[in-house]
Formats: sequence, C-alpha cells, structure tokens
Amino acid sequence: MPAITLVGAQWGDEGKGKATDLVGNRVDYVVRYQGGNNAGHTVVIGDQKYALHLLPSGILSPDVVPVIANGVVIDPGVLFEELRGLKERGVNTERLLISANAHLIMPYHRALDKVSERFLGKGRIGTTGRGIGPTYADKISRAGVRVQDMFDPKILRKKLELALNDKNQILTKVYNRRGLDLEQILDEYLGYADMLRPHVADTGLVLNRALDEGKTVYLEGSQGTLLDIDHGTYPFVTSSSPTSGGACAGSGIGPTRITKVVGIIKAYTTRVGSGPFPTELLDESGEWLRQQGHEYGVTTGRNRRCGWFDAPIARYATRVNGITDFFLTKLDVLSGLERIPVCVAYDVDGVRNDEIPMTQTEFHHATPVYEYLDGWNEDISHARSFEELPKNAQSYVRTLEEMAGAPISAIGVGPGRDQTLELRALV
Ligand code: IMP
Repeated sequence: MPAITLVGAQWGDEGKGKATDLVGNRVDYVVRYQGGNNAGHTVVIGDQKYALHLLPSGILSPDVVPVIANGVVIDPGVLFEELRGLKERGVNTERLLISANAHLIMPYHRALDKVSERFLGKGRIGTTGRGIGPTYADKISRAGVRVQDMFDPKILRKKLELALNDKNQILTKVYNRRGLDLEQILDEYLGYADMLRPHVADTGLVLNRALDEGKTVYLEGSQGTLLDIDHGTYPFVTSSSPTSGGACAGSGIGPTRITKVVGIIKAYTTRVGSGPFPTELLDESGEWLRQQGHEYGVTTGRNRRCGWFDAPIARYATRVNGITDFFLTKLDVLSGLERIPVCVAYDVDGVRNDEIPMTQTEFHHATPVYEYLDGWNEDISHARSFEELPKNAQSYVRTLEEMAGAPISAIGVGPGRDQTLELRALV
C-alpha cells in the first residue's frame, strides 16, 4: 500500500490541516517529517477549533497513528503543552510516536534565533523566533542534541557542556546577552524525559513495516515549497526541506514507496515574513483578501501578506515536488469579485519570464503579468459538488489546473470538515 506526501505549494499556510483531516480517516499513519513548532495547522471539527504547531493533525483522528519523524525539530516544552491541551479536551494522545533521532530545540536556540534576527535589522528573515534555524544549523554542524540523548543523563550533560561553551560565548560576547545555566537546562530537559519515553520509537522501522503490511502512510509537510532551504526564496526560507524529497530523508521512507504527491495550494497567495512576493497587494485589495480569508498567522498572529494566484509558482511546485494532484483551498474567499487577476508570467526588467527567474535578484525585480478571469457573486460555501459551483468558479478552477500542470482533485469552500469538494479520491 502507498505512502502519500502532502506538500505546501506556495509559502505555507495553504490549509494543510484541512487536507489531512479530510483523508485522516482513510490512512493509518500521519507523519510530520520536517520543521517544528514554527508551523501552525488549524483544524475545525464541529464547533471545536484546534490550533496545532508541532503535533501532526492526525492526532485528532482516533484510528490514526501520529508520528513525529526524524526530520522534525522538537521543543519538548511545547510538545508537553500541546499534549496537555489536547488531553484536557478529551483527545487521546497515547498513540503518538516520536523518533529517537529527532533533534531538540534548546533554550539557546530560541535565544539565538531572536537575537540574531534583531541584529539583522532591515535584513531580517522574519522567523517565527522558535529556534528552528539555529537547531537545524547545529544538526548540520553535528553539534545537535537528539531525543535519545534525554535518556542518558551523562551524555546529555556532556553535549550541553560542549554546546554552552560555545553558545554562551556568542550570547554574551557577540550579542551582549546573559549566558544560560547548564544545571537549569539539564533539570528542565531531564524532566521531560519521562513524558516522552512512552512515545519514542524507531519510527523509520515502524513506518516501513507498516507499508510492508499494506498500511497507508501519509507524510504531512509543513511550511511550503517556496520556504524550502534549497528550492525556496533563499535566504527568506525556513531551515528544512518541506518539498517532497525532504519527506524521504525526514522519515526514513524510500522514494520508490511514495505513490502520490498532493500539493496544497490556495486560490490566491499569502506569505508571512520577509522576502520577494511578486503578486503581493499593498492596497485595499490586499486588505480585502486578508479579511475575507482571515489571513492572520496561527503561530505568531502576524498579518499575512496577501496577493493574487501566481501560476509560475504553481508550475514550479509541480516540477520540484512531482505533484500528482492539487488540493485547491479557500476558493470561497474569492466570491464577490467581478474579475480575478491571475499572474501568468513575470516582467523582469522589461523581459517576459514564463517561469520563476533563475536568480534571486531577478525574482526581487519581477512584476506580475496578469490575465483577468471572470469572477462570481454567489456564496459557494454551501456547494458540495463541483457541478454546484457557479460556471465562472468552475472555469477559474479549470484554468488554474491547466496553468499549474497537475489535476485539481479537491477544492476547499470553507474551513469546516464538510466544506470540501473531492473531485477524485485523494487516497
Ligand atoms: P523559521 O521557520 O521560524 O526559521 O522562519 C523562516 C521563514 O519561514 C519566515 O519567513 C517565517 O515566517 C516562515 N515560516 C515558518 N513557518 C511557517 C509556516 O508554517 N507558515 C508560513 N510561513 C512560515
């Protein structure tokens, strides 16, 4: 049976929680493979709204095993709070599995994330301040602390000593901040060990065995294609690989076992943080989109930057991820527009580019070339099939599909569980 990957096709916040929730009851495992509590998934079930940052949204489906795989970075304090919050609302969290190889976000990672952003001034990336970048930097430079280290106090102490030798120098001498206390961190992290222990597993082995037994594994990406460390708008990116290739490295599942890659994409575009965004609207239409679409960050509460749909980005996502199906979200937000601009190419210093330009400098200079599609006035949030959509909404979807280069298999017309039109079964 298959492994299926879900990836954000834009700059994140495309509505991945909703897609996972839709297929949640048809899969056996829901796996997070990268990122950390920089993510924010909102899932609405009945009148209950759940905001998850670290836990896979599969935690809300009683028959699913949620997995935090090796590619994720874990802030154990946040994990503890999220688990507690769900338990208080009666959600059973016992099934959760956590990779022994996942790296831990330490207090000095959070401190360095915040202070280095402040020092970047106007050049700041606009990170979520959760310590994500510094944790991945330590992982790559082989100075990280992993989940398994919490179960060996001697090793944990040794690793912390080495880390603090370095980090405290940087915090005090470069950034003029207070250094951090080893014993305090040690106490705090050893305190989390008991809470984590029942959940920790060799998740790569578990997932491959599950596939051998015919189970379905759903790999849930966080952030999005253009925030990918390799394929995104570097340096205005996150420090992991949300793209589908990252799903293999981040979970221990080989690429030949993945049979479908679902790209999740909004009917328009948003981004948080700094960096180029050709279709961004700085006028009242941007504010209109923000209000209609409730475009405020789940994790940081920041206003999201809003703009029209960008077809070269959609095509790029198809190419980089090998997207086989799209899930188009928030189509209902566009109701009420007479004409809807869609970016079909860029003008870069007087030259037309049909694809994302090769260099970041060019991308910074890119201005959108728009085509205008006919809008619709009807409220479509009650539609339950493609045929129930107004003709112009149908042709908006069909045009986007053609431009993006992969079929749109599902459409979101509202935040609720039942507000999804499934054109082809995703799983
Ligand atoms: P970091 O991941 O906190 O290091 O932030 C790096 C960049 O990724 C910033 O522009 C963030 O706003 C952005 N980012 C991180 N996580 C998300 C997300 O879940 N949705 C949208 N943007 C994100």
